Amino acid sequence: MRNWVLITGCSTGIGRALVPLCREAGWGVVATARDPAALADLPPGEDLRILALDVTDAASIASAAVACADLPLKALVNNAGYGQVGPLELIRPEELRAQFETNVIGLQMVTNAFLPLLRREAGARVLQVASMLGRLSIPLAGPYNASKHAVVALAESLRLEVGREVAVVLVEPGAIRTEFRETLARAWGDLPARALGTRYERVLKKYLAVRKDQSERHAMEAEACARRILGAILTERPPRRLVIGKDAFLAGKLKAILPPAWWEAILRRAYGLD
Ligand SMILES: NC(=O)c1ccc[n+]([C@@H]2O[C@H](COP(=O)([O-])OP(=O)(O)OC[C@H]3O[C@@H](n4cnc5c(N)ncnc54)[C@H](OP(=O)(O)O)[C@@H]3O)[C@@H](O)[C@H]2O)c1
Repeated sequence: MRNWVLITGCSTGIGRALVPLCREAGWGVVATARDPAALADLPPGEDLRILALDVTDAASIASAAVACADLPLKALVNNAGYGQVGPLELIRPEELRAQFETNVIGLQMVTNAFLPLLRREAGARVLQVASMLGRLSIPLAGPYNASKHAVVALAESLRLEVGREVAVVLVEPGAIRTEFRETLARAWGDLPARALGTRYERVLKKYLAVRKDQSERHAMEAEACARRILGAILTERPPRRLVIGKDAFLAGKLKAILPPAWWEAILRRAYGLD
């Protein structure tokens, strides 16, 4: 009997890239998306189950768990998430709450709903997709940084609580080429208008013109990122942390060795905040 993995947020990006890789490795995949129509082009097979799953909707989570009750679920990949960026001073409470509803509370509620199924399988694991921004913070991405720091904290607590039964893996990618930056642009909403006449007007213009392109240029392909995640799904001894990409690795090291004032000066300059 094959092992099964459930992946959240498979409509695009890393989640989408992971589906065929897991199937090629002989696993069954429960591919989920808010709108399952986004998964209609996946080749059908006995090794694929498509489910609707909105991680912010308790009823949707509960019915997905019921629909998987008959499967030997050995892995859960909490991948769904998006980036709410913008200067903290201009962020609305509902934007901050929505960021946490999806990236943090949704991730934990999905984990809780599937832990009883994972516990039934020896060697089961949950992979929490955080980010390099769960270990360090950059300007203009406060809500996102905070949500990913929270994912790291939740995963570390969860590992202490259930780690002997279900392994907990923190996935910490750097920049990956996906729909992430388009979604991020949508989450801007009317932020540029809110910034007009403030000290952030110029900063946001620079961010949109320069920083976004730079991170796109050096980004890793989604499939390469998904291959690293696949490794942590298949391996007998899952790692506690999976840092993906040179940028994630180097930024972590730099932050650890540089005096804080230097680190902050580099970031302020890079984002036009000096
Ligand atoms: N790309 C990067 O540079 C990068 C770096 C570090 C970490 N990450 C993390 O990697 C994960 C995947 O992102 P990605 O880069 O692959 O971006 P993406 O292409 O935008 O994919 C994000 C996925 O999350 C889904 N999603 C958003 N809100 C959801 C909700 N409430 N319920 C269920 N699904 C929801 C989206 O579905 P819809 O189509 O329905 O919106 C989409 O399938 C995220 O957690 C992100 O924070 C990305």
